[in-house]
Parts: sequence; structure tokens; C-alpha cells
Amino acid sequence: MWRRSSRESFPPKNIPLNSVSSIEDLRRQIAEWRTAGERIAFVPTMGNLHEGHLKLVDAAKANADRVVVSIFVNPMQFGADEDLDAYPKTPEQDSSLLDGRGADLLFRPIVADIYPSGTNEPTFVEVPEISDILCGASRPSHFRGVTTVVAKFFNMVQPDVALFGEKDLQQLISIRRMTTELNFPIEIIGVPIVREIDGLAMSSRNGYLSESERAIAPRLYEIIKDLATELDKGVSEYSLLEQQTTKKIDAVGFKCDYIVIRRATDLSEPKTGDKLLAILVAARLGRTRLIDNMVVTLD
Ligand code: PAJ
Repeated sequence: MWRRSSRESFPPKNIPLNSVSSIEDLRRQIAEWRTAGERIAFVPTMGNLHEGHLKLVDAAKANADRVVVSIFVNPMQFGADEDLDAYPKTPEQDSSLLDGRGADLLFRPIVADIYPSGTNEPTFVEVPEISDILCGASRPSHFRGVTTVVAKFFNMVQPDVALFGEKDLQQLISIRRMTTELNFPIEIIGVPIVREIDGLAMSSRNGYLSESERAIAPRLYEIIKDLATELDKGVSEYSLLEQQTTKKIDAVGFKCDYIVIRRATDLSEPKTGDKLLAILVAARLGRTRLIDNMVVTLD
């Protein structure tokens, strides 16, 4: 059931109507559900939704009475030379996909409401260490932008449960730590990576790939699967494996940013005897930066 927002200037026309853009309207709807004793799930996104996002909505529905989805392309998590302006926006399509999946409320705030003092505002949320490694090393202040906006959304939505994709494993771990350490009474659920038929992890950024790049892109998953097989066999010279895999990634046409074997729980360097490992990769294909990962449990 779609309901008209009291603020008509945004979102634009033809967006299904149970979407709100003001924090006030959001809080009013949430309060109604709370009064009725309903359990609320929250799925934050940046829009241009695909099946990976929609699986989060499915998991949200399975865990709550009401599902709130946000669409907000968060300027604070983009570097100056990154794709903030080019980030794909498909509002009508997103709304109808969410409608079809049974989401209850779409929250599409404007930047000025989320950042009342501007995107350089002095208050932020940062989880140290994890924010500085891997994607954080190549994208300084990216995770600060993510944890800040997610903390703001947690304050606005006050959900019982929030869902994040394992596709962005470093993001998921940062958010789990933030939630614990800031005492948010919110259960964080990680949802497995959804892939295209050829293995490429679904991503809004896949749309940037040219036809020839799209043909190469699934090789990244094949290469990390091969690395997982080596780990399964008991090969434990991790840094040698990382060096060899970097060469393989570059040889098929990527420019490897990192490929690492880490502890799956906190992404620290693995120690002898660790059983739960994660392979994490980031690589550029032309102008597109792709990330992927795989968790490996050793016997
Ligand atoms: P976005 O890239 O839109 O992703 C929103 C959520 O969908 C994230 O939790 C992400 O991990 C998940 N997701 C994306 N692709 C997926 C896939 N192939 N399989 C499973 N889950 C997938 O991540 C963000 O937005 C932002 O950083 C956000 C958390 C919204 C903060 O701005």
C-alpha cells in the first residue's frame, strides 16, 4: 500500500507513494509502527537496485514486520576524484522493484537534511584501524563516510535489525564494530553475495563496464575461487599466494589494487591455526573498480 508523502517537492513524480523524504515523515511512520508493537528492519542503499539489494529486502522481511529501505547517494563516502556525480540513479525502477518485493517504506532524504552543517561537518563516526586498511587505504575517509551516514540512519530509523551485504565485507565488519561499540540496540545481519550467472558479484558499478570489460570481469571470481582451492589443499604460504594471484589478476587485464588472505572475523593478518579466512580483492578494470571476496573455512 503506497501512501503519499506530505512533502511533494521531492521525490519527483511517478515515484510510488509510500516514499518519504523528510526525517519528520520518516519518524512519524516509524512511531506509528512502534506503537503497534511492530518489529522494524532497515536496509540502507545508494539505489540503482539489483538482485543483491533485493535479497537484503527479502532477508529483512523474514526478520521483521516492517521493512524500511533508504536510498541515498552519500557524498561523504566518495573521494574527490570518485564517481559521486556519475553514480547511477534509477528512482522509478528502484521504487517498483521495492514495491514488488514488499518493502513498506522508502526513505529518500536530501543531502541538506542528512548533513545539516554540510558534508564537511565536524562530527563524524569512525571505527579506527579497520577503516584504514584494504579499501580504506585506497579510499581514504571512505569508511568514515559510511559509518557516519549509517549511524545517522540508525538514529533516524531506530530499527531492531539492519541488513548489509557480505559483498562489502570490510563495510559489514566496520558497521558491526560501530554498532557494538556505540551500543546501538540493533541486530546486524550479513547477507551472502549475490552473483550474476557467470559469477561476477552484482554491483551498481558493473554498469560502467564496456562490453569487452564485462567479458573479462567474471575472471576475478574464478581467480579467487582458485586461490580458495589452494587454501583448502592446505597451502599456507599466504604472501606467496597473494603475489602469484596479483600477477594472475593483472595478466587477464585488471590492475590489481589488493588481493589478500585475512582472518574473516576482523580482517587482521592470519595466524597459524586460523580456520576462518577471507580472500578479499579489489581491482580496476578500465575506469571501474570492482571488489569481491570469499570466506574459506579450513578443516
Ligand atoms: P550500496 O552499494 O547501494 O549497497 C547497499 C547494500 O547492498 C550493502 O549492504 C551492500 O553490501 C549490499 N550489496 C550490494 N551488492 C550486493 C551483492 N551483489 N550481494 C549482496 N549484497 C550486496 O553499500 C552501500 O550502498 C553504502 O555504503 C551504504 C551502506 C548504503 C551507506 O551509504
